[in-house]
Amino acid sequence: MRDHTHLQSMNERSLAQQAAVRKATFSPSEVKELRPFSIWEISQFMFEVPADTLRKKLSEDPSLPQGSVEEDGRQRWFSLDEINELRRRLKFRGKKLLPERPKGRAVRVAVSNFKGGVGKSVVAHHLANAAALDGYRVLVIDFDPQATLTHSMGLVEVKEADTVWGIMCRDLCREADRIMAGYDDPTDCPYPSSDELPDDVRAIGEQRVQDFIQKTAWPTIDIIPSCANAAFVEFASAQYRSLHKAWSFFGCVARYLDELPRDQYDLILFDCPPAIGYQSLNAAFAADILYIPSGPGYWEYDSTTSFVGQLGDAIEDISEGFKGVAADAGISLPKTFLDIRLLMTRFEPSNPLHIAMLDAFKNVFGSDVCANAIEMTRAVEQSGRFQMSVYEQDYRQMTRDTWKRARQSFDRAYEEFKATFLRAAGEIHSQKEAGQ
Ligand SMILES: Nc1ncnc2c1ncn2[C@@H]1O[C@H](COP(=O)(O)OP(=O)(O)OP(=O)(O)O)[C@@H](O)[C@H]1O
Ligand SMILES: [Mg+2]
Repeated sequence: MRDHTHLQSMNERSLAQQAAVRKATFSPSEVKELRPFSIWEISQFMFEVPADTLRKKLSEDPSLPQGSVEEDGRQRWFSLDEINELRRRLKFRGKKLLPERPKGRAVRVAVSNFKGGVGKSVVAHHLANAAALDGYRVLVIDFDPQATLTHSMGLVEVKEADTVWGIMCRDLCREADRIMAGYDDPTDCPYPSSDELPDDVRAIGEQRVQDFIQKTAWPTIDIIPSCANAAFVEFASAQYRSLHKAWSFFGCVARYLDELPRDQYDLILFDCPPAIGYQSLNAAFAADILYIPSGPGYWEYDSTTSFVGQLGDAIEDISEGFKGVAADAGISLPKTFLDIRLLMTRFEPSNPLHIAMLDAFKNVFGSDVCANAIEMTRAVEQSGRFQMSVYEQDYRQMTRDTWKRARQSFDRAYEEFKATFLRAAGEIHSQKEAGQ
Protein backbone atom coordinates (compact mmCIF):
# COMPACT_ATOMS: atom_id res chain seq x y z
CA MET A 1 0.00 0.00 0.00
CA ARG A 2 1.23 3.48 -0.82
CA ASP A 3 -0.16 6.66 0.68
CA HIS A 4 0.54 10.37 0.28
CA THR A 5 3.90 10.09 2.09
CA HIS A 6 5.10 7.87 -0.74
CA LEU A 7 4.23 10.57 -3.28
CA GLN A 8 5.96 13.17 -1.10
CA SER A 9 9.12 11.12 -0.86
CA MET A 10 9.09 10.58 -4.64
CA ASN A 11 8.85 14.37 -4.96
CA GLU A 12 11.82 14.90 -2.60
CA ARG A 13 14.02 12.42 -4.46
CA SER A 14 13.13 14.02 -7.76
CA LEU A 15 13.84 17.56 -6.50
CA ALA A 16 17.29 16.45 -5.28
CA GLN A 17 18.00 15.05 -8.73
CA GLN A 18 16.84 18.32 -10.36
CA ALA A 19 19.36 20.25 -8.28
CA ALA A 20 22.11 17.90 -9.50
CA VAL A 21 21.03 18.47 -13.12
CA ARG A 22 21.08 22.23 -12.61
CA LYS A 23 24.57 22.07 -11.14
CA ALA A 24 25.78 20.09 -14.13
CA THR A 25 24.13 22.31 -16.73
CA PHE A 26 23.77 25.94 -15.68
CA SER A 27 27.03 26.73 -13.88
CA PRO A 28 28.81 25.64 -10.70
CA SER A 29 26.76 28.20 -8.77
CA GLU A 30 23.56 26.65 -10.19
CA VAL A 31 22.68 30.01 -11.69
CA LYS A 32 21.72 30.07 -15.33
CA GLU A 33 24.05 32.22 -17.40
CA LEU A 34 23.60 33.47 -20.94
CA ARG A 35 26.41 32.48 -23.28
CA PRO A 36 28.13 35.00 -25.55
CA PHE A 37 27.46 35.00 -29.31
CA SER A 38 30.10 34.65 -32.02
CA ILE A 39 30.82 37.01 -34.91
CA TRP A 40 29.60 34.23 -37.23
CA GLU A 41 26.17 34.13 -35.52
CA ILE A 42 25.88 37.90 -35.21
CA SER A 43 26.74 38.60 -38.83
CA GLN A 44 24.76 35.71 -40.30
CA PHE A 45 21.63 35.58 -38.14
CA MET A 46 21.30 38.98 -36.47
CA PHE A 47 22.82 41.80 -38.53
CA GLU A 48 22.69 39.90 -41.84
CA VAL A 49 25.96 41.34 -43.15
CA PRO A 50 29.14 39.52 -44.20
CA ALA A 51 31.34 38.70 -41.18
CA ASP A 52 34.28 40.54 -42.77
CA THR A 53 32.23 43.73 -43.10
CA LEU A 54 31.40 43.56 -39.39
CA ARG A 55 35.05 42.83 -38.49
CA LYS A 56 36.14 45.84 -40.56
CA LYS A 57 33.70 48.16 -38.76
CA LEU A 58 34.97 46.91 -35.41
CA SER A 59 38.61 47.43 -36.27
CA GLU A 60 37.93 50.93 -37.65
CA ASP A 61 36.44 52.11 -34.35
CA PRO A 62 38.14 50.73 -31.21
CA SER A 63 35.55 52.51 -29.03
CA LEU A 64 32.95 49.95 -30.18
CA PRO A 65 32.48 46.87 -27.98
CA GLN A 66 35.13 44.40 -29.11
CA GLY A 67 33.87 41.22 -27.44
CA SER A 68 36.44 38.71 -26.29
CA VAL A 69 38.45 35.91 -27.80
CA GLU A 70 38.27 32.56 -26.06
CA GLU A 71 41.46 30.73 -25.17
CA ASP A 72 42.81 28.86 -28.22
CA GLY A 73 39.96 30.25 -30.30
CA ARG A 74 40.07 32.79 -33.09
CA GLN A 75 36.51 34.06 -33.13
CA ARG A 76 35.30 36.98 -31.09
CA TRP A 77 32.32 36.42 -28.81
CA PHE A 78 29.96 39.18 -27.68
CA SER A 79 27.50 39.47 -24.82
CA LEU A 80 23.91 40.47 -25.63
CA ASP A 81 24.55 43.86 -24.00
CA GLU A 82 27.50 44.38 -26.36
CA ILE A 83 25.42 43.28 -29.34
CA ASN A 84 22.71 45.77 -28.38
CA GLU A 85 25.29 48.53 -28.10
CA LEU A 86 26.55 47.67 -31.59
CA ARG A 87 22.94 47.82 -32.75
CA ARG A 88 22.58 51.33 -31.39
CA ARG A 89 25.86 52.58 -32.82
CA LEU A 90 26.30 50.83 -36.17
CA LYS A 91 24.68 51.25 -39.55
CA PHE A 92 25.38 49.22 -42.69
CA ARG A 93 24.88 51.05 -46.01
CA GLY A 94 22.75 53.56 -44.14
CA LYS A 95 20.52 50.78 -42.74
CA LYS A 96 19.89 50.90 -39.00
CA LEU A 97 20.18 47.72 -36.94
CA LEU A 98 17.60 48.69 -34.34
CA PRO A 99 14.27 46.91 -34.71
CA GLU A 100 11.02 48.80 -35.26
CA ARG A 101 9.52 49.35 -31.81
CA PRO A 102 5.83 49.52 -30.94
CA LYS A 103 4.90 53.21 -30.66
CA GLY A 104 2.42 52.60 -27.87
CA ARG A 105 2.42 50.06 -25.05
CA ALA A 106 3.91 46.56 -25.31
CA VAL A 107 2.02 44.00 -27.38
CA ARG A 108 0.64 41.11 -25.31
CA VAL A 109 0.63 37.65 -26.85
CA ALA A 110 -0.81 34.51 -25.23
CA VAL A 111 0.69 31.21 -26.39
CA SER A 112 -2.19 28.95 -25.56
CA ASN A 113 -3.85 25.59 -26.23
CA PHE A 114 -5.63 23.23 -23.81
CA LYS A 115 -3.86 20.32 -25.45
CA GLY A 116 -0.86 19.32 -23.35
CA GLY A 117 2.60 18.81 -24.78
CA VAL A 118 2.03 20.55 -28.12
CA GLY A 119 5.06 22.77 -27.65
CA LYS A 120 3.57 25.90 -26.02
CA SER A 121 6.47 26.41 -23.61
CA VAL A 122 9.07 25.66 -26.29
CA VAL A 123 7.38 28.19 -28.60
CA ALA A 124 7.08 30.86 -25.87
CA HIS A 125 10.71 30.34 -24.82
CA HIS A 126 12.09 30.49 -28.39
CA LEU A 127 9.95 33.48 -29.44
CA ALA A 128 11.08 35.38 -26.32
CA ASN A 129 14.74 34.55 -27.05
CA ALA A 130 14.43 35.39 -30.75
CA ALA A 131 12.80 38.74 -29.94
CA ALA A 132 15.52 39.60 -27.39
CA LEU A 133 18.24 38.69 -29.91
CA ASP A 134 16.44 40.97 -32.37
CA GLY A 135 16.84 43.89 -29.94
CA TYR A 136 13.43 43.88 -28.23
CA ARG A 137 12.75 44.17 -24.48
CA VAL A 138 10.60 41.26 -23.44
CA LEU A 139 8.54 40.29 -20.41
CA VAL A 140 7.43 36.66 -20.17
CA ILE A 141 4.61 35.63 -17.87
CA ASP A 142 4.37 32.01 -16.84
CA PHE A 143 0.68 31.22 -16.25
CA ASP A 144 1.37 27.51 -15.88
CA PRO A 145 1.97 26.02 -12.41
CA GLN A 146 4.03 23.28 -14.10
CA ALA A 147 6.46 26.23 -14.35
CA THR A 148 8.27 24.81 -17.40
CA LEU A 149 9.16 28.26 -18.70
CA THR A 150 10.15 29.51 -15.24
CA HIS A 151 12.54 26.59 -14.81
CA SER A 152 13.94 26.91 -18.33
CA MET A 153 14.64 30.56 -17.59
CA GLY A 154 16.68 29.41 -14.59
CA LEU A 155 14.36 30.36 -11.69
CA VAL A 156 13.78 27.73 -9.04
CA GLU A 157 12.69 29.13 -5.69
CA VAL A 158 9.41 30.87 -6.49
CA LYS A 159 6.68 31.63 -3.95
CA GLU A 160 3.03 31.64 -5.00
CA ALA A 161 2.66 35.25 -3.85
CA ASP A 162 5.05 36.22 -6.65
CA THR A 163 3.10 34.50 -9.42
CA VAL A 164 0.02 35.44 -11.44
CA TRP A 165 -1.99 34.21 -8.48
CA GLY A 166 -0.31 36.94 -6.38
CA ILE A 167 -1.23 39.50 -9.04
CA MET A 168 -4.85 38.34 -8.68
CA CYS A 169 -4.79 38.74 -4.88
CA ARG A 170 -3.31 42.22 -5.14
CA ASP A 171 -5.93 43.11 -7.71
CA LEU A 172 -8.73 41.90 -5.42
CA CYS A 173 -7.51 44.26 -2.65
CA ARG A 174 -7.30 47.22 -5.01
CA GLU A 175 -10.62 46.51 -6.68
CA ALA A 176 -12.37 45.96 -3.33
CA ASP A 177 -11.21 49.41 -2.20
CA ARG A 178 -12.07 51.06 -5.51
CA ILE A 179 -15.58 49.61 -5.44
CA MET A 180 -16.05 50.62 -1.79
CA ALA A 181 -14.86 54.19 -2.58
CA GLY A 182 -17.64 54.43 -5.18
CA TYR A 183 -20.24 54.53 -2.39
CA ASP A 184 -20.95 57.86 -0.63
CA ASP A 185 -21.66 55.87 2.48
CA PRO A 186 -19.33 52.82 2.74
CA THR A 187 -21.90 51.02 4.90
CA ASP A 188 -24.17 50.90 1.81
CA CYS A 189 -21.55 48.82 -0.04
CA PRO A 190 -22.63 45.17 -0.05
CA TYR A 191 -19.07 43.98 -0.74
CA PRO A 192 -16.08 43.79 1.64
CA SER A 193 -13.21 46.30 1.68
CA SER A 194 -9.62 45.03 1.49
CA ASP A 195 -9.46 45.17 5.32
CA GLU A 196 -12.04 42.42 5.50
CA LEU A 197 -10.17 40.08 3.15
CA PRO A 198 -8.02 37.18 4.47
CA ASP A 199 -4.66 38.24 5.96
CA ASP A 200 -2.54 36.49 3.30
CA VAL A 201 -4.43 38.29 0.53
CA ARG A 202 -4.04 41.65 2.30
CA ALA A 203 -0.30 41.06 2.66
CA ILE A 204 0.03 40.44 -1.09
CA GLY A 205 -2.07 43.55 -1.67
CA GLU A 206 0.87 45.57 -0.31
CA GLN A 207 3.21 44.41 -3.12
CA ARG A 208 4.25 46.98 -5.69
CA VAL A 209 3.92 46.54 -9.45
CA GLN A 210 7.62 45.86 -10.01
CA ASP A 211 7.82 43.35 -7.13
CA PHE A 212 6.31 40.67 -9.36
CA ILE A 213 8.96 41.08 -12.05
CA GLN A 214 12.17 39.06 -11.79
CA LYS A 215 15.40 39.13 -13.76
CA THR A 216 16.54 36.26 -15.97
CA ALA A 217 19.96 35.39 -17.41
CA TRP A 218 18.98 37.54 -20.39
CA PRO A 219 19.55 41.29 -19.81
CA THR A 220 16.47 42.13 -21.90
CA ILE A 221 14.09 39.37 -20.77
CA ASP A 222 12.27 39.63 -17.44
CA ILE A 223 9.81 37.13 -16.04
CA ILE A 224 6.76 36.86 -13.83
CA PRO A 225 7.31 33.25 -12.78
CA SER A 226 5.08 30.42 -11.65
CA CYS A 227 5.45 27.53 -9.22
CA ALA A 228 3.71 24.27 -8.33
CA ASN A 229 1.82 25.88 -5.46
CA ALA A 230 0.18 28.29 -7.87
CA ALA A 231 -2.00 25.33 -8.89
CA PHE A 232 -2.99 24.60 -5.32
CA VAL A 233 -3.94 28.19 -4.53
CA GLU A 234 -6.03 28.38 -7.69
CA PHE A 235 -8.75 26.80 -5.53
CA ALA A 236 -8.59 29.84 -3.29
CA SER A 237 -9.41 32.09 -6.25
CA ALA A 238 -12.88 30.50 -6.37
CA GLN A 239 -13.32 31.29 -2.68
CA TYR A 240 -12.23 34.93 -3.19
CA ARG A 241 -14.65 35.24 -6.07
CA SER A 242 -17.50 34.30 -3.79
CA LEU A 243 -16.19 36.67 -1.10
CA HIS A 244 -16.44 39.61 -3.51
CA LYS A 245 -19.12 39.17 -6.14
CA ALA A 246 -18.38 42.44 -7.93
CA TRP A 247 -14.74 41.50 -8.60
CA SER A 248 -13.91 41.17 -12.30
CA PHE A 249 -11.56 38.25 -11.57
CA PHE A 250 -10.79 37.77 -15.29
CA GLY A 251 -9.34 41.27 -15.73
CA CYS A 252 -6.63 41.24 -13.02
CA VAL A 253 -3.60 40.68 -15.24
CA ALA A 254 -4.81 43.15 -17.90
CA ARG A 255 -5.21 45.80 -15.17
CA TYR A 256 -1.81 44.92 -13.73
CA LEU A 257 -0.10 45.27 -17.13
CA ASP A 258 -1.83 48.63 -17.67
CA GLU A 259 0.03 49.84 -14.56
CA LEU A 260 3.47 49.12 -16.08
CA PRO A 261 5.29 52.10 -17.61
CA ARG A 262 4.37 52.14 -21.29
CA ASP A 263 7.95 51.96 -22.51
CA GLN A 264 9.26 49.29 -20.11
CA TYR A 265 8.78 46.46 -22.64
CA ASP A 266 8.08 46.00 -26.36
CA LEU A 267 6.59 42.54 -26.11
CA ILE A 268 4.86 40.57 -23.35
CA LEU A 269 4.55 36.81 -23.93
CA PHE A 270 2.32 34.52 -21.89
CA ASP A 271 3.00 30.78 -21.56
CA CYS A 272 -0.39 29.26 -20.72
CA PRO A 273 -1.29 26.00 -18.99
CA PRO A 274 -3.05 23.14 -20.78
CA ALA A 275 -6.24 23.89 -18.84
CA ILE A 276 -8.89 26.49 -18.33
CA GLY A 277 -8.92 28.19 -14.95
CA TYR A 278 -8.82 31.58 -13.27
CA GLN A 279 -5.22 32.20 -14.23
CA SER A 280 -5.57 31.09 -17.86
CA LEU A 281 -8.75 33.15 -18.31
CA ASN A 282 -6.74 36.14 -17.16
CA ALA A 283 -4.21 35.36 -19.89
CA ALA A 284 -6.95 35.32 -22.53
CA PHE A 285 -8.45 38.59 -21.27
CA ALA A 286 -5.07 40.35 -21.15
CA ALA A 287 -3.92 39.18 -24.59
CA ASP A 288 -3.98 41.27 -27.76
CA ILE A 289 -3.05 38.22 -29.82
CA LEU A 290 -3.72 34.50 -29.37
CA TYR A 291 -0.96 32.28 -30.70
CA ILE A 292 -2.17 28.68 -30.75
CA PRO A 293 0.48 26.01 -31.26
CA SER A 294 -0.66 22.58 -32.37
CA GLY A 295 1.17 19.39 -33.33
CA PRO A 296 0.53 17.66 -36.63
CA GLY A 297 -1.38 14.64 -35.24
CA TYR A 298 -5.09 13.88 -35.49
CA TRP A 299 -5.62 14.12 -31.71
CA GLU A 300 -3.92 17.48 -31.63
CA TYR A 301 -6.23 18.68 -34.40
CA ASP A 302 -9.15 17.30 -32.43
CA SER A 303 -8.26 19.02 -29.17
CA THR A 304 -7.24 22.28 -30.85
CA THR A 305 -10.76 22.28 -32.30
CA SER A 306 -12.27 21.83 -28.86
CA PHE A 307 -9.88 24.42 -27.37
CA VAL A 308 -11.07 27.19 -29.68
CA GLY A 309 -14.67 26.15 -28.99
CA GLN A 310 -14.31 26.05 -25.21
CA LEU A 311 -12.37 29.29 -25.03
CA GLY A 312 -14.97 30.95 -27.25
CA ASP A 313 -17.74 29.68 -24.96
CA ALA A 314 -15.92 30.75 -21.78
CA ILE A 315 -15.35 34.25 -23.16
CA GLU A 316 -18.99 34.45 -24.27
CA ASP A 317 -20.21 33.35 -20.81
CA ILE A 318 -18.10 36.02 -19.13
CA SER A 319 -19.07 38.65 -21.71
CA GLU A 320 -22.74 37.99 -20.96
CA GLY A 321 -22.70 37.12 -17.27
CA PHE A 322 -20.36 39.89 -16.12
CA LYS A 323 -21.52 42.84 -18.21
CA GLY A 324 -22.31 45.05 -15.23
CA VAL A 325 -19.22 44.10 -13.24
CA ALA A 326 -17.00 44.66 -16.28
CA ALA A 327 -18.59 48.01 -17.20
CA ASP A 328 -18.04 49.24 -13.63
CA ALA A 329 -14.37 48.20 -13.89
CA GLY A 330 -13.97 49.96 -17.26
CA ILE A 331 -13.56 46.71 -19.22
CA SER A 332 -15.29 46.68 -22.57
CA LEU A 333 -16.90 43.39 -23.50
CA PRO A 334 -17.07 41.26 -25.54
CA LYS A 335 -13.36 40.61 -25.38
CA THR A 336 -11.70 41.08 -28.77
CA PHE A 337 -8.30 39.93 -30.04
CA LEU A 338 -6.34 41.85 -32.65
CA ASP A 339 -5.27 38.55 -34.17
CA ILE A 340 -5.59 34.79 -33.69
CA ARG A 341 -2.93 32.60 -35.28
CA LEU A 342 -2.42 28.86 -35.40
CA LEU A 343 1.15 27.63 -35.44
CA MET A 344 2.03 24.06 -36.43
CA THR A 345 4.81 22.65 -34.24
CA ARG A 346 6.91 19.47 -34.26
CA PHE A 347 6.36 19.29 -38.00
CA GLU A 348 8.31 16.85 -40.19
CA PRO A 349 8.34 18.25 -43.76
CA SER A 350 8.98 14.81 -45.28
CA ASN A 351 6.21 13.04 -43.36
CA PRO A 352 3.11 12.63 -45.59
CA LEU A 353 0.82 12.41 -42.54
CA HIS A 354 2.14 15.72 -41.23
CA ILE A 355 1.70 17.34 -44.65
CA ALA A 356 -1.87 16.06 -44.79
CA MET A 357 -2.62 17.44 -41.30
CA LEU A 358 -1.13 20.83 -42.17
CA ASP A 359 -3.34 20.88 -45.29
CA ALA A 360 -6.36 20.02 -43.16
CA PHE A 361 -5.54 22.90 -40.78
CA LYS A 362 -5.14 25.27 -43.74
CA ASN A 363 -8.40 24.11 -45.32
CA VAL A 364 -10.30 24.80 -42.13
CA PHE A 365 -8.54 27.84 -40.69
CA GLY A 366 -7.25 29.37 -43.92
CA SER A 367 -4.84 32.27 -43.57
CA ASP A 368 -5.02 32.12 -39.75
CA VAL A 369 -2.50 29.26 -40.00
CA CYS A 370 1.10 30.50 -39.89
CA ALA A 371 2.93 29.88 -43.17
CA ASN A 372 6.06 28.71 -41.34
CA ALA A 373 5.65 25.61 -39.19
CA ILE A 374 8.20 24.83 -36.51
CA GLU A 375 10.04 21.70 -37.44
CA MET A 376 10.53 18.65 -35.27
CA THR A 377 14.21 18.76 -34.45
CA ARG A 378 16.68 16.86 -32.35
CA ALA A 379 18.23 20.21 -31.44
CA VAL A 380 15.21 20.97 -29.18
CA GLU A 381 15.56 17.59 -27.53
CA GLN A 382 19.30 17.98 -27.04
CA SER A 383 19.25 21.56 -25.81
CA GLY A 384 16.11 20.85 -23.75
CA ARG A 385 18.13 18.34 -21.74
CA PHE A 386 20.17 21.30 -20.53
CA GLN A 387 17.03 23.40 -19.97
CA MET A 388 18.03 25.65 -22.83
CA SER A 389 16.53 26.92 -26.04
CA VAL A 390 18.23 26.34 -29.38
CA TYR A 391 19.31 30.00 -29.22
CA GLU A 392 20.90 29.52 -25.81
CA GLN A 393 22.69 26.34 -26.80
CA ASP A 394 26.27 26.81 -27.96
CA TYR A 395 26.28 25.44 -31.52
CA ARG A 396 29.69 23.84 -30.92
CA GLN A 397 28.03 21.36 -28.56
CA MET A 398 26.03 19.69 -31.33
CA THR A 399 26.24 19.05 -35.05
CA ARG A 400 26.44 22.53 -36.56
CA ASP A 401 23.95 21.64 -39.33
CA THR A 402 21.36 20.30 -36.88
CA TRP A 403 21.66 23.47 -34.80
CA LYS A 404 21.52 25.73 -37.85
CA ARG A 405 18.45 24.03 -39.35
CA ALA A 406 16.64 24.24 -36.00
CA ARG A 407 17.58 27.87 -35.51
CA GLN A 408 16.44 28.77 -39.01
CA SER A 409 13.10 27.04 -38.44
CA PHE A 410 12.53 29.10 -35.27
CA ASP A 411 13.83 32.24 -37.02
CA ARG A 412 11.28 31.86 -39.83
CA ALA A 413 8.46 31.35 -37.31
CA TYR A 414 9.73 34.39 -35.39
CA GLU A 415 9.84 36.65 -38.49
CA GLU A 416 6.19 35.84 -39.13
CA PHE A 417 5.38 36.37 -35.47
CA LYS A 418 7.18 39.73 -35.58
CA ALA A 419 5.10 40.90 -38.53
CA THR A 420 1.97 39.90 -36.58
CA PHE A 421 2.94 41.69 -33.39
CA LEU A 422 4.09 44.85 -35.18
CA ARG A 423 0.77 44.97 -37.03
CA ALA A 424 -1.02 44.70 -33.68
CA ALA A 425 1.28 47.38 -32.24
CA GLY A 426 0.17 49.73 -35.00
CA GLU A 427 -3.50 49.04 -34.25
CA ILE A 428 -3.02 49.55 -30.49
CA HIS A 429 -1.31 52.87 -31.20
CA SER A 430 -3.98 54.12 -33.59
CA GLN A 431 -6.78 53.08 -31.19
CA LYS A 432 -5.03 55.07 -28.47
CA GLU A 433 -4.62 58.09 -30.74
CA ALA A 434 -8.31 57.87 -31.63
CA GLY A 435 -9.06 57.84 -27.87
CA GLN A 436 -10.72 54.41 -27.90
N1 LIG B 1 10.08 21.60 -32.43
C1 LIG B 1 10.27 20.59 -31.57
N2 LIG B 1 11.13 19.57 -31.90
C2 LIG B 1 11.33 18.55 -31.05
N3 LIG B 1 10.76 18.43 -29.84
C3 LIG B 1 9.90 19.39 -29.46
C4 LIG B 1 9.62 20.52 -30.30
N4 LIG B 1 8.73 21.31 -29.65
C5 LIG B 1 8.48 20.72 -28.47
N5 LIG B 1 9.19 19.56 -28.35
C6 LIG B 1 9.18 18.64 -27.19
O1 LIG B 1 7.84 18.31 -26.88
C7 LIG B 1 7.66 18.25 -25.48
C8 LIG B 1 6.53 19.17 -25.05
O2 LIG B 1 6.88 20.51 -25.31
P1 LIG B 1 6.36 21.71 -24.39
O3 LIG B 1 6.72 21.49 -22.94
O4 LIG B 1 6.80 22.98 -25.01
O5 LIG B 1 4.79 21.52 -24.57
P2 LIG B 1 3.62 22.31 -23.82
O6 LIG B 1 2.52 22.46 -24.80
O7 LIG B 1 4.15 23.53 -23.19
O8 LIG B 1 3.24 21.25 -22.70
P3 LIG B 1 2.23 21.51 -21.47
O9 LIG B 1 0.87 21.44 -22.04
O10 LIG B 1 2.53 20.37 -20.54
O11 LIG B 1 2.54 22.86 -20.90
C9 LIG B 1 8.97 18.61 -24.84
O12 LIG B 1 9.67 17.44 -24.49
C10 LIG B 1 9.72 19.33 -25.94
O13 LIG B 1 11.12 19.20 -25.83
MG1 LIG C 1 4.06 24.18 -21.20
